[in-house]
Amino acid sequence: MLVPAFILALLFSAVGVCQNVTGNGTSFTNPILNATGADPWVFQHNDYYYMTYSTNDDITLLRSKVLTNWNTAEQKTLFTPPTGLNYSTDLWAPEIHFLQNKWYIIFTADPRSDSPPPDVDMWCDYNCPAVHHRMFVLESSGSDDPWSAEFTYKSQLDTYDQFAIDGTYFVHASGLYHIYSCWYRAYDAWPANLCITNMSNPWTVSSTFQERQIISTPSNPWEKTPYGRSVNDRLSSNEGPEQLINPTTGQNFLIYSAARSDNRDYCLGQLELIGTDPMNPSDWLKHDAGCVFYQNPQESSYGVGHASFTKSPDGKEDWIVYHGMRDPTNGWAARTIRAQKFGWNEDGSPNFPRPGYGPYEVPSGQGSK
Ligand SMILES: *[C@@H]1O[C@H](CO)[C@@H](O)[C@H](O)[C@H]1NC(C)=O
Ligand SMILES: *[C@@H]1O[C@H](CO)[C@@H](O)[C@H](O)[C@H]1NC(C)=O
Ligand SMILES: *[C@@H]1O[C@H](CO)[C@@H](O)[C@H](O)[C@H]1NC(C)=O
Ligand SMILES: *[C@@H]1O[C@H](CO)[C@@H](O)[C@H](O)[C@H]1NC(C)=O
Ligand SMILES: *[C@@H]1O[C@H](CO)[C@@H](O)[C@H](O)[C@H]1NC(C)=O
Repeated sequence: MLVPAFILALLFSAVGVCQNVTGNGTSFTNPILNATGADPWVFQHNDYYYMTYSTNDDITLLRSKVLTNWNTAEQKTLFTPPTGLNYSTDLWAPEIHFLQNKWYIIFTADPRSDSPPPDVDMWCDYNCPAVHHRMFVLESSGSDDPWSAEFTYKSQLDTYDQFAIDGTYFVHASGLYHIYSCWYRAYDAWPANLCITNMSNPWTVSSTFQERQIISTPSNPWEKTPYGRSVNDRLSSNEGPEQLINPTTGQNFLIYSAARSDNRDYCLGQLELIGTDPMNPSDWLKHDAGCVFYQNPQESSYGVGHASFTKSPDGKEDWIVYHGMRDPTNGWAARTIRAQKFGWNEDGSPNFPRPGYGPYEVPSGQGSK
């Protein structure tokens, strides 16, 4: 989850982040973009890497020949919403997917900068500014290339007029699915769970509300905020779900963010689809033992989460792109975007590194940055 607009002004006046653009030509340091940034989505297409992240007022696309330095990347605005609509403010966590021969952008937005009127807010169990957040889709026309394609508004994804953020597509042999962060009921506010619905195409959900399934809730101590909170579920979140397929075994993982995005404990959790039906909650195995990627105080790397996954230029290495904080006390304003290489465990699950700043070797095949 990102941040109300009124905090945004603070973000951009926040302290500049040290970016190592020298290194030795074969190394890089984190962050990879010298700006406050959260919820990065990175993909490769032909000769470029592309990145979107939460720019709040619009959807911005960056492209770069290298994965590890975005300070000199080209940048363009793909979409600015009209004012006064349900998707005019707080555009968060955009993702760009190529599905059925077109590019689709799936994103979170709300109608009034995270501030529902009092006669709506009063229904919530806790204060719930996010009550009107929903998921929306843009569709491309005119080009196979995401840089030159035109994007236009296509639809809202049906989340049954309930809270929905951080939606992603889950592509499976059995069909296409929408997985997103959801509440049990319209006015819960917390916990934020992971819901799945099926889709008849990239802009249409086909499940009914009764068929919507919850595949994860923040049930473990490390998914609650503060850690282990026992009294209620305030701030306990599962969000930022992303599909990750083991390229060797074909195992299907869903890597999501747990706890709370504005503090040091935010981390990545893991679900694996061990059956054949993504709509069946018991076909998902949750890694209850703990976060699979989490803070590293020795290197001042905190609040690491909301990841996406890509490859080195030669396709040999897997890379995670995520956001994290150097200052664990300054909330959302402290987040910057980072990248690191990861591997795989014996059981086929991802083996993420400890988060840090490097210097690290650049991705294999990148050449000089
Ligand atoms: C990063 O941003 C800071 C603050 O705006 C600036 O002083 C610095 O030169 C920037 N570094 C790079 C590598 O762009
Ligand atoms: C930049 O990288 C070089 C070499 O990898 C390293 O020695 C130096 O400490 C780094 N500087 C910063 C500011 O991270
Ligand atoms: C460049 O820096 C990386 C990371 O510190 C290191 O692994 C590599 O050996 C260095 N290469 C050269 C040519 O110095
Ligand atoms: C805007 O959102 C409100 C609250 O969720 C909903 O009742 C209304 O139908 C939406 N308007 C449109 C045009 O979808
Ligand atoms: C979605 O699931 C429902 C319930 O199982 C089913 O009736 C419907 O055909 C499915 N839609 C698609 C597009 O798979």
